[in-house]
Amino acid sequence: METDYLILGSGIAGLTVALKLAQEFPDRKILIVTKSNADESNTKYAQGGIAVVIDGIDDDFEKHINDTLVCGDGLCNREVVKMVVKEGPKRLKELIDWGTNFDLTIDGNLDLAKEGGHSNHRVVHHKDQTGREIERAILAEAYQKKNIKILDFHFATDLITESNCCYGTLVLDEKNGRIIPIYAHFTILATGGIGQLYKQTTNPLIATGDGIAMAIRTNAIIKDMEFIQFHPTALYMPKATSTFLISEAVRGFGASLKTKKGRRFMLDYDARGELASRDIVSRSIETELKKSENPCVYLDCTHLDILAFKNHFPTIYENCLLSGIDVTKDWIPVIPTQHYLCGGISVDKNGMTSVENLFACGECSHTGLHGANRLASNSLLEALVYSNQIFNFLKKTDLKNNTKKMIISDDFTCKNKSLDKKIIAQFKEDLQKCMQKNVGIVRNNTDLEKTLEQLLIWEKECQEMESKYRVTKDFWELKNMITVSIPIVAFSLKRTENKGSFFKEQKL
Ligand code: FAD
Ligand code: SIN
Repeated sequence: METDYLILGSGIAGLTVALKLAQEFPDRKILIVTKSNADESNTKYAQGGIAVVIDGIDDDFEKHINDTLVCGDGLCNREVVKMVVKEGPKRLKELIDWGTNFDLTIDGNLDLAKEGGHSNHRVVHHKDQTGREIERAILAEAYQKKNIKILDFHFATDLITESNCCYGTLVLDEKNGRIIPIYAHFTILATGGIGQLYKQTTNPLIATGDGIAMAIRTNAIIKDMEFIQFHPTALYMPKATSTFLISEAVRGFGASLKTKKGRRFMLDYDARGELASRDIVSRSIETELKKSENPCVYLDCTHLDILAFKNHFPTIYENCLLSGIDVTKDWIPVIPTQHYLCGGISVDKNGMTSVENLFACGECSHTGLHGANRLASNSLLEALVYSNQIFNFLKKTDLKNNTKKMIISDDFTCKNKSLDKKIIAQFKEDLQKCMQKNVGIVRNNTDLEKTLEQLLIWEKECQEMESKYRVTKDFWELKNMITVSIPIVAFSLKRTENKGSFFKEQKL
């Protein structure tokens, strides 16, 4: 298979770059490869919204820039922050032009919410289903474009590279188990996050770090992998791996965090209280949990205007009810869980990686925007801005004669025996538990060293399995999860200064 532009991933990052290329070059082919249903992505689950400076009276770019820099704890790239924040309004307009609906005030202006770390109301949203609405609109738009083809249930396994140049990717067709090469002039990684490396995450099952693992295998530069963001308020669901998020916008709406005994504790830690940045709120909850030995803390919404609450947060209200929690009278049990990777594949201002003809955008990339900790609702914004940066670069770049034929070794397809699904599932769970326990909100070198040793053993075991068995999607995901866990742990060991979402204690 051959295409002009190959995009891996159909979340906000992949779809928006596809739409722009399709519009600009009606005669060129754009192929999107995606491993599940086309709409399954972290994007679909985004609740709070997109941070954009809209209100020119109380808010301005400088304030948003400053909030992002403060949250990033000194490690953001200031130029990137300025660029992303200033591009926000234009990129939001495009999203609206593609048919995305955002909530409006009775005066017809965009309704702006507030979230942790923001000095102003500036988060545009669609109730508590912003991501679902965005994904709906841009996917519908992509299906309209004659020159965009979407291959769902196709799992990208490895990039095709030679001499640090990318020629496309190998793809596992999940329906027939065959591996096919897809050649492209330009390849864009938009494969999203890594949440499934942890036993508890807000991310869906697709978030296994595949694009980052592929990039690592081609020796692309990756950065800041130790900065894992934990969202302070996921619904306490001890048995679930993908937990349900209680949006930060609920705290922006006035909900307070309490201990089991009803003590409102956040003001003991930060003057901004419940709306301190995520790293601070998550660490404070962790401290409270250790002190009390309780399994969760609580979010109290009972004092809020319940009609307005139901209108703003219908999904949260319904999901809580389904779990037996009536927010009008019950406190919501919450815990911090893995939510976002601030690091990723290093890209320049054009979204270009260190490998020729290979680009990355969205959560799998590292642009320098987030530093040590991402400001709430800056992720969808970053994906929109960087897909536009990539588009602007490619708009000016001729298609190269960049196709390279490759013989696919029979090894990929001729082994008849697949690994037992149960063995892979158990392996995955062991990895998730290990990462959750040893590479969480508070880390220490002793546990990190043990974890690294274990990961290297697992990596070897995986190599042995790969040589013997026919590989499946589950196996590739497991292999990728191990590949990505290794730098998270190794970078954590190397880091000597606590910053933002990274905290290492000195173990006695
Ligand atoms: P994704 O949307 O995750 O898309 C990745 C795509 O790549 C998927 O289509 C996936 O199937 C595909 N893929 C992955 N691996 C492969 C492979 N090997 N082969 C083929 N396809 C592959 N951010 C905000 O700014 N505001 C919010 O309010 C907000 N709320 C959030 C709430 C939740 C519950 C979660 C989980 C995240 C939230 N975030 C929010 C973060 C934000 O949603 C994500 O960072 C962002 O949507 C990532 O977009 P993306 O396009 O990079 O990746
Ligand atoms: C939320 O709604 O709390 C998530 C916002 C984000 O991840 O930026």
